[in-house]
Amino acid sequence: MEQQIQQPKKRIFSGIQPTGNLTLGNYIGALRNFSLLQDEYDCLYSIVDMHAITVRQNPAELRKACLRTMSIFIASGLDPKKNIIYFQSQVPQHAELAWILNCFTYMGELQRMTQFKDKSAKHADNINAGLFTYPVLMAADILLYQTDLVPIGSDQKQHLELSRDIAERFNGVYGDVFTVPDGYFPKVGARVMSLQEPTRKMSKSDPEETYIAILDKPEVIRRKMRRAVTDCDNTVVFDPENKPGVSNLMSILSALSGMSMEAISAEYDGKGYGKFKDAVADSVIAALEPIQKRYDEISADKAYLQEVLSDGAERASALAHRTMLKVRKKIGYAPFKL
Ligand code: TYM
Repeated sequence: MEQQIQQPKKRIFSGIQPTGNLTLGNYIGALRNFSLLQDEYDCLYSIVDMHAITVRQNPAELRKACLRTMSIFIASGLDPKKNIIYFQSQVPQHAELAWILNCFTYMGELQRMTQFKDKSAKHADNINAGLFTYPVLMAADILLYQTDLVPIGSDQKQHLELSRDIAERFNGVYGDVFTVPDGYFPKVGARVMSLQEPTRKMSKSDPEETYIAILDKPEVIRRKMRRAVTDCDNTVVFDPENKPGVSNLMSILSALSGMSMEAISAEYDGKGYGKFKDAVADSVIAALEPIQKRYDEISADKAYLQEVLSDGAERASALAHRTMLKVRKKIGYAPFKL
């Protein structure tokens, strides 16, 4: 009888920064895909607290935000038994590999990163070296686990491409050390825009009324949606260039309901923006309410969170250790045992 050889599952890595409130953009662009992919892949999902400190943080707040983010991961449907869910800072190999990869990354490459330019403008009083080398730490996160696929929103695409370049450069010198990762982007909603300035990305570091937080209550979601900036055409047509506000709301509705842009136009065009905005709010509430219910239970259960975090750090460390043994040997560090 022919024996079926089971292929090992492909590996996924992704991370979210535990800063501020996670937004609808984080949900549609990344988090929602995490749970959709968890059965087919071998996944690590990290709360990337090391990235968070590139911007000044209040320590007590950061600790709370880390646990809040972990609770949201689980509440969104990620099963900690199937996936490795962990805090980045609890696996020091991220920092170790980042240092090594820094020596394989050019200043010019980092200077071209648009997020560095944006963040330097936003935090002009604290343009630290960490902010500059942030994409190298991100490459280390991904390459440390021999990742095949990285589910992210489109704002992280440039960073992912740099990770690929660094992996290929390193492999070019030392042989096949790292898996070269691919990105995984949602078909609709890879870039959810601000509700108040729809030509800018929805961001958790912007003022409250510009984004919907995953934990926003239904009445808050309805209010923010009603106030979302649109235009005076009164047409529900997908045209991101000329109608960025309406197109953004259509993307949100399409991503959450599965309706095509044509179906949305057919249903809501000519009926006034009020009705359309209410429909978008309904779809957001329907997606977020069950997460919020589970969040309340999970975040109150400290013993459970403790178990998840210890288990996650241990399993992630074991995988990280394997890659680092190989990397250390390749670059010529002395072994622990001669
Ligand atoms: P972060 O924390 O800014 O965002 C987390 C994830 O959410 C996506 N995202 C969005 N998607 C669509 N529309 C939006 N408005 C929107 N805002 C955010 C992001 O693309 C991201 O997927 N550098 C990363 C974190 C990170 C990481 C990694 C990701 C560190 N190491 C390794 C993947 C792999 C960041 O700051 O994401």
